[in-house]
Formats: sequence, C-alpha cells, structure tokens
Amino acid sequence: MDAETEKRVAAEAAALLVEDGMRVGLGTGSTVAHLLPALAARGLGIRCVATSVQTEEAARALGLEVDDAATVDRLDIAIDGADQIAPDWWLVKGGGAAHTREKVVAATTDRFVVIADSSKVVERLRAPVPLELMEYGLSSTLRRLHDVELRDVPRSPDGGVIADYTGAIGGPEALDAWLGSVPGVVAHGLFAPSMVSEVIIGRDESAERLARLI
Ligand code: A5P
Repeated sequence: MDAETEKRVAAEAAALLVEDGMRVGLGTGSTVAHLLPALAARGLGIRCVATSVQTEEAARALGLEVDDAATVDRLDIAIDGADQIAPDWWLVKGGGAAHTREKVVAATTDRFVVIADSSKVVERLRAPVPLELMEYGLSSTLRRLHDVELRDVPRSPDGGVIADYTGAIGGPEALDAWLGSVPGVVAHGLFAPSMVSEVIIGRDESAERLARLI
C-alpha cells in the first residue's frame, strides 16, 4: 500500500479522538497534512496551536482557529508525525526541522498521539538525529558535537540553525541526556516514550494502535 494512503488512514483515525471544546496541538509534516482536513471536516469548536508556519497557514485556510503558542499553557491533545518509531516508542522527529516546537507542544499536552505510515516503524533508531543549534558559538558547538552535519535549509522560525547528529545512537536514553546537556543545542529530535500517549500506524487500509514493547 502506498505511504500516502497509510498516512491518511492514521491521520483520520487520530482526528476522531478530538472532541468539541478541546485545545489541540497540531504537528508538522506530510502526515499532519492529512490530519488538518480530517479535523476541519468534523466541524468541532476547537482551538489549536501549530508547530510550524506551514501548519498554521494550512490550518487557518481550512477554517481552524489557531492561537499564539505563547499564550497557551496546556493542551488536551496533540497529534504529530514521526520519522522513526522504535518498539519501545522512542521516536526520532525533526525531518521537517520543526522538532523544537514539536517538543514544546508534546510537553504542553495531556495526550500526545503519534501518527505515521508503516515505514516509520523500525527495529532500532538510527542516525541522523535532527538538531536545532544556536547561532551564537556555533563553531564551538559543532566541534563538541563532533559527529554533526549542518542541513542546507533555512533557519527555524525561532532563528535556530538546523543540523543533524550523525554518530551512533546506541541507547537513546544516554544520547538524549548527552545532547540535552550540550550548551548551544536548543533541542534535538529524540522524543522519550514518556512523552508519547499512543501511536497510530496506517497499515494498508487500516489504522493500527501500536503496542509499546518495553
Ligand atoms: C517535522 O519536523 C517532523 O518532526 C515530522 O513530524 C516528521 O518528520 C514526520 O514527517 P512526515 O509526516 O512528513 O513523515
């Protein structure tokens, strides 16, 4: 089955989890692109926060209400894609360079739902792990990260430099802690299982809840 169909099936299943009156976090990417029309079609009275300019514009064009994230302290549900999903629900995100905002939204919400096509389910996570870096001290940060490549893309909307960590992942807990401790790293694309409430995978024509294997 083609990936677009699987993305749409997962996104439509996630849209059904949203209820009238909810505050909803919207992720970024080609899977979320299927979520937005499915959500708008439900005609619910919801208020949203978007993780990228692209999502914000697409959501508004469909008639969804989008608030300034700076004013929202809590969300009921957030729905977002992923680049890699391990059996224990460690994620790699940020293929679209939106991982910093996506991580803030994942931390803001009571329920974080991941949607993806079946190609995103992997046995173990692999590099690259997306990074957002401060411009200030960039050469020093790159030297200390060592295994890193700058990505040839525009700055993030928050002014960050987008790069990818290309070294071994090994245990994601240790890499999560290390990358999080490097001064100059704004955010990285490893998302811990504790952030994730559920994972919905499109497999052929059906949406499948992915069980978490410890
Ligand atoms: C955006 O930066 C990413 O975290 C996306 O959520 C992730 O790359 C998945 O994107 P697709 O839905 O386009 O595969």
